[in-house]
Amino acid sequence: MSSPRGLFVGGNWKMNGTLDSSKKLIDHLIASKLDESTEIVVAPPFIHLLQVKDYLQASSHPNIKVSAQNAYHKSSGAFTGEVSVDQLVDAQVPWVIIGHSERRTLFGEADHNVAEKTKAALEAGLSVILCIGETLEQREKDETVSVVTRQLNAVEQEVKDWSKIVVAYEPVWAIGTGKVATSQQAQEVHSEIRKWAASKLGQSVANKLRIIYGGSVAAKNCKELSTQADIDGFLVGGASLKPEFVDIVNARL
Ligand code: PGA
Repeated sequence: MSSPRGLFVGGNWKMNGTLDSSKKLIDHLIASKLDESTEIVVAPPFIHLLQVKDYLQASSHPNIKVSAQNAYHKSSGAFTGEVSVDQLVDAQVPWVIIGHSERRTLFGEADHNVAEKTKAALEAGLSVILCIGETLEQREKDETVSVVTRQLNAVEQEVKDWSKIVVAYEPVWAIGTGKVATSQQAQEVHSEIRKWAASKLGQSVANKLRIIYGGSVAAKNCKELSTQADIDGFLVGGASLKPEFVDIVNARL
């Protein structure tokens, strides 16, 4: 039985593409037949973000929104190279990805950084795709649930209203490796995350919380994943740069 919540599909373009190729990705998307009930968010690199937003607005496609891939929690100041949550709001960028495993592992973001960024983003009025997930070593030591719970607890200490958060469960070993979690492995963790939400945030918040899966999602595996009761969509990296992103958006058609 698939989840009762609408499908949410995010495309994380990471540090890829050019001004021209980002336009082509949007051209392909808007020329395709898309499941109207899927909420679609694309996250281009900062330098392409406004062009993509304007291009989407001109196409007046109501279901596709843009997201930043990161943001800094202070509103302005001497933070060379950073972009603030307030600047995203000013630029009418509605979403931000926070705590992606590449930010955590390559750029040293700890749980408390992720928590303060999430808090600042929500306070500024943004919606947040909050990424969590365990490494292979942690999974092999049977620590998956304790790791994702620790990551969630850090945010819960700072944030009480989760209505504008989408949780992205992304096992680190599945990201960019072609090694997708089985639908059963993903469902198990998603169900634990929903249980966590019920105990910390209440049953009705837990029932509404979108929990999406990320890690080597592709056209060939998205349909089965999307049949799981607690999988409400996907955060897609590599395949979001390919035409098959459309098939992922349409996973429930
Ligand atoms: P992938 O990346 O789909 O290329 O595995 C997912 C992500 O990092 O969000």
